Amino acid sequence: MPKWLDNAVFYEIYPQSFLDTNADGIGDLQGIINKLDYIRELGFNALWINPCFASPFGDAGYDVSDYCMVAPRYGTNEDLKRLFAEAHSRGIHVLLDLVPGHTSVEHPWFRESMKPEENAYTHRYVWTDSIWESPEGMGCLRGMSQRDGSCAVNFFSNQPALNYGYYEITRPWQQSPEDEGPRATLEAMKSVMRFWLGLGCDGFRVDMAASLVKNDPEGKGTIALWQKIRAFLNEEYPEAAMVSEWGEPDKSLLGGFHMDFLLHFGPSHYNDLFRCDHPYFSDSGLGDASAFVAKYQESRKKAGKEGLICIPSGNHDMFRIAKFLNEEQRKLAFTFLLTMPGAPFVYYGDEIGMRYVEGLTSVEGGYERTGSRSPMQWDDSINAGFSCASAEKLYIAQDPAADRPNVKAQMADSGSQYHQVKTLIALRQAHSALHNRSDMRFVCDGAPGQALAYERLCDEEKLLVVINPNGKAASLDYAGTLGQPVYTVGGTAVQENGRIIAAPVSAGIYRI
Ligand code: NOJ
Repeated sequence: MPKWLDNAVFYEIYPQSFLDTNADGIGDLQGIINKLDYIRELGFNALWINPCFASPFGDAGYDVSDYCMVAPRYGTNEDLKRLFAEAHSRGIHVLLDLVPGHTSVEHPWFRESMKPEENAYTHRYVWTDSIWESPEGMGCLRGMSQRDGSCAVNFFSNQPALNYGYYEITRPWQQSPEDEGPRATLEAMKSVMRFWLGLGCDGFRVDMAASLVKNDPEGKGTIALWQKIRAFLNEEYPEAAMVSEWGEPDKSLLGGFHMDFLLHFGPSHYNDLFRCDHPYFSDSGLGDASAFVAKYQESRKKAGKEGLICIPSGNHDMFRIAKFLNEEQRKLAFTFLLTMPGAPFVYYGDEIGMRYVEGLTSVEGGYERTGSRSPMQWDDSINAGFSCASAEKLYIAQDPAADRPNVKAQMADSGSQYHQVKTLIALRQAHSALHNRSDMRFVCDGAPGQALAYERLCDEEKLLVVINPNGKAASLDYAGTLGQPVYTVGGTAVQENGRIIAAPVSAGIYRI
């Protein structure tokens, strides 16, 4: 387990939308390099960069056509190497986005695989043996070439599924993970990992990590596959950090990932907190965190002490948190996000409360996700400081609101969301009880009208976090003694006759 994960706090960058330094209307690697000081000053010490590889961009780069080449619109491989070096010199680690489940239809492997003559790539993708048979339970590509078969798709129709084999084989064309084709796919993906790790990247966020082995309802085949990758990394790159887009930590961590994200889909109840009709962090008192807490506790138990369950502020696939929560409420949500165990992930722009931009036409396969991918708002100059291109040239339009938040204004306002995020990250670093692997114990599970309270514990210190998003005061039983506050927002909790009373719409971190 890489030591740096003990206190890693991640910032997710969607490269298209971060900073455009060559006035072509789209962000680039140099833009990320230019903003490394900004990122470091906020306190982040790790990055996840969404796919920045050659691609026809039918799905924002999650449709790779060359795994080992930076997309020219972002720069060159040399620029990415420079980014690694510049980041490292500031104490920032960099994860790239690995998309092992599928490629673009334009990938040379797929072009070869479509050929009717048997070749080295015939079994690189999941093909049936007749154009008339579809792979069960999956979409497919058919009739695109003279190969007599249908090719499974992993996500959109332009993303053919790479072949890692089937866990349960029910048709003659399905292969076992041990067959030559699937083994070659795995070796090819290891080579991709070697390539970037060799150039200085610090690990990967893995796209759709649960999707690799097909017909694998309990994930056993896919877990076994990731265990092979774990063995390879242990051998060759033991310091590489791996975080999965899986959403089931008990499975992914067993597969050898260090971290797993909770997602806006899957069993975690993540949405109950931030994104539903009555999110827990809203002030209606109707929100309910208890199902989240129950599932989280269960996952933590199964994941063990080492594995990190990562709760993101958002990502490029979900609505911005600001669509559901106002600034006051977001401050409570951030108190939670930055005091929970696991490595926190903050989506670019969430640190200033960037909004979901309603009504945008889909760009690069974004569909409703497009509104969460609008260009970063740096200041009040043209295009909010994102780009010098004319506004029509921006690849996604800016948030048109006159009062859209921006970094410059928030830096100048000590009460801003920006400063809150900065303060909380600094506190997290300063208090070892708040580090990623330090222990935790729930005291109150945030049932409707109730506070969410949990202890964070390590040998050196003990802290209690109390969050009451409700518009009414909340009280909770607590056997310990509430000590001095380390941080509060919206009011300070008090203890009376053993009970803690938390002010309406408040959060705090206390010594105990
Ligand atoms: C998950 C990614 O986060 C999303 O943006 C992408 O569209 C799909 N996987 C397919 O790769």
